[in-house]
Amino acid sequence: MNTLVIGSQWGDEGKGKVIDFLTEDADIVVRSQGGSNAGHTVIANGIKYVLHLVPSGILWPGKVNVIANGVVINPTSLVEEITGLRAQGVSITPENLLISDRAHVVLPIHKEIDAAQEEALGDQKIGTTKQGIGPTYADKARRIGIRMVDLVDPVRLEKVLKARIKTANEELARLGWQPADPQVTLDAVMQAAEVLRPHITNTIPVLHKAVVAGKNILFEGAQGAMLDIDFGTYPFVTSSNTSAGGCCTGSGVPPTRIDKSIGVCKAYTTRVGAGPFVTEDAEIADYLHGLGREFGATTGRPRRCGWTDGVVLRFSAMFNGFNEMAMTNLDGLDERDTIKICTAYRLGDQVLEYPPALMEDWERCQPIYETLPGWKQDITKCTKWEELPANCQAYVKRFGEIVGCPVGSVGVGPDREQTISVPH
Ligand code: GDP
Ligand code: IMO
Ligand code: MG
Repeated sequence: MNTLVIGSQWGDEGKGKVIDFLTEDADIVVRSQGGSNAGHTVIANGIKYVLHLVPSGILWPGKVNVIANGVVINPTSLVEEITGLRAQGVSITPENLLISDRAHVVLPIHKEIDAAQEEALGDQKIGTTKQGIGPTYADKARRIGIRMVDLVDPVRLEKVLKARIKTANEELARLGWQPADPQVTLDAVMQAAEVLRPHITNTIPVLHKAVVAGKNILFEGAQGAMLDIDFGTYPFVTSSNTSAGGCCTGSGVPPTRIDKSIGVCKAYTTRVGAGPFVTEDAEIADYLHGLGREFGATTGRPRRCGWTDGVVLRFSAMFNGFNEMAMTNLDGLDERDTIKICTAYRLGDQVLEYPPALMEDWERCQPIYETLPGWKQDITKCTKWEELPANCQAYVKRFGEIVGCPVGSVGVGPDREQTISVPH
């Protein structure tokens, strides 16, 4: 059984927690896109882990974790992450962490270009994580990128790095930024390469053999469907395919071998960075921030908050082929008198069931809401569906109807154990 676990909104839906919960029955966990822009929180046995590049399956002993070809890897960040996880008692070896030789490398110059481009955009900026993601994927598309395989041979690495830094410095100069020192980059990447080299391999046959042997593979999506470069709120998106298709192109596991697609969603909506957010609501943002919730795992920025956007989720379920939704943070709504769900957008005299393509239209859309009663009760100790209050159950069921995809599980707290299956 090969299962995709995909963010269905704008990221930070709780994918880390859902993956961690599902890993018990998996053999392999694969990251197939994104980079250290991701921040996946897992709370296991009372300890908090934040994963950026390393698949969340690393927290379970005996599982194989693959950073596949579609990921962009900052070697220094990855070494720091591995070191940090080891300090927390996590075992990481060349046997349980494999890195694709075809994954592209994020260099310090990519972070510089990311920051310079954002600055040049002024008030039109995307609000990127400044992790160099866009510039690295741009290099990949321009066919001038450096890949993990280039880190294997130090002589080759020096040659390709120097050449790329030279052209990048010309680019930085055009943006009015200082040039990068090639030697500093070279030293940093060389040092990280020493640590990562034993993990670098051709992961495509590894995954193929696992598929043939009938192993269970989990794909850990990063970001969310509305940040997808094709289907999201373009240009306020990331630079990879965060949706179902990205799992295949980013890993080499073909679509014919995918069995199930799970959409992770919050019981409300959040977004970090700029761009349209039709159901954004200052009052619910204040309420959630007041509870100490919704601050970013990567940047610490307060996340923008709003009600559930059924238009986004309906669209997302369509192009990701979701079989079920894994809803998280249902407990976040415990104290609300009423709860709103957006069922459609109003754009002028039109009613839209799916989002528009044009940014200006997105910005003009008004939410059409349905209002449900809250449950005004602490659900964090509930362990079974039957224990959830009737209004809470009604919200979950109605949510599934509006999205057009049933909710298969709900999260009632951040801990591994705080997940409840929803009967069909
Ligand atoms: P990801 O990027 O999709 O993995 O999500 P993040 O880790 O960035 O953000 C999700 C946040 O919600 C984290 O702080 C999680 O610990 C937390 N979380 C996940 N599920 C639940 C839940 O059901 N209830 C509560 N209270 N917190 C949750
Ligand atoms: P996880 O995996 C939330 C957002 C950024 C910005 C846009 C582009 O933790 O859900 P980028 O640095 O990728 O070029 O930024 O995408 N973004 C995320 N938002 N969760 C994430 O990852 C994100 N990764 C990128 O805030 O709006
Ligand atoms: Mg996150």
